[in-house]
Amino acid sequence: MRFQAVVVAAGSGSRAGVEKPWAALAGVPVLRWSVRALLDAGAADVVVVVGPHRLADVGDALAGLTGWRAVEGGATRAESVLRGLDAIEAADLAGADTPVLIHDAARPFLERAVIDRLIDALGDADGAVPALPAVDSLRRGDEAGLGDSVDRDGLFRAQTPQAFRLATVRAALTDWPGETPPTDEAEAVRAAGGRVVLVAGDPRLFKLTYPEDFIMAEALAAGLTP
Ligand code: CTP
Ligand code: MG
Repeated sequence: MRFQAVVVAAGSGSRAGVEKPWAALAGVPVLRWSVRALLDAGAADVVVVVGPHRLADVGDALAGLTGWRAVEGGATRAESVLRGLDAIEAADLAGADTPVLIHDAARPFLERAVIDRLIDALGDADGAVPALPAVDSLRRGDEAGLGDSVDRDGLFRAQTPQAFRLATVRAALTDWPGETPPTDEAEAVRAAGGRVVLVAGDPRLFKLTYPEDFIMAEALAAGLTP
């Protein structure tokens, strides 16, 4: 099924110390890995949301690819996503029921199988999120030391892309009642009364967050064709 995609790439990368979408993996910008995975998997259009100072750089990073457009992001991830959704609406790229995948640029290794699972799951849900079970033992802790264990059963690590129908996610973000922005789109859709389901995530879909994450990413990228 055809779908639309928003790739959010407007963050500052404060924990990594670099603007992650523009860092190179196997010589290719992280942003290009992410966008190309979506286009290869059948995205009709990909809206890339970037900081205003990066708008002119997107063309270089995505040279030779077609089916994308770039817009300016906002101060928070939720605002950036909303601007991407606005661009889809404004350009009449999709109808209210069209599936939209919202993806972190900082997750470059996106496999088509994950996308297929998400689109399938949207058949009878308001949203779908790829997730992996928590594997480490989880403990509370503070300056005083180690606290209680937290039961791992039923705890997941959520990844992106997150999938919704265009009108559902746009309304949920616009009507978000919280003082602070939602953690992700799934939280907003749930707050609006929607049912969001989990599909199997992928270990390769980890988010580049800290400098160390680039070591793993380089190793993975070396085994793939950029
Ligand atoms: N993002 C965005 N707009 C923002 C904040 C984040 O588009 N205002 C995007 C980032 O570019 C990234 C994704 O959301 O692709 C996930 O965010 P995160 O990993 O937190 O990236 P940064 O916010 O850039 O990093 P940090 O929190 O370490 O500053
Ligand atoms: Mg951030």
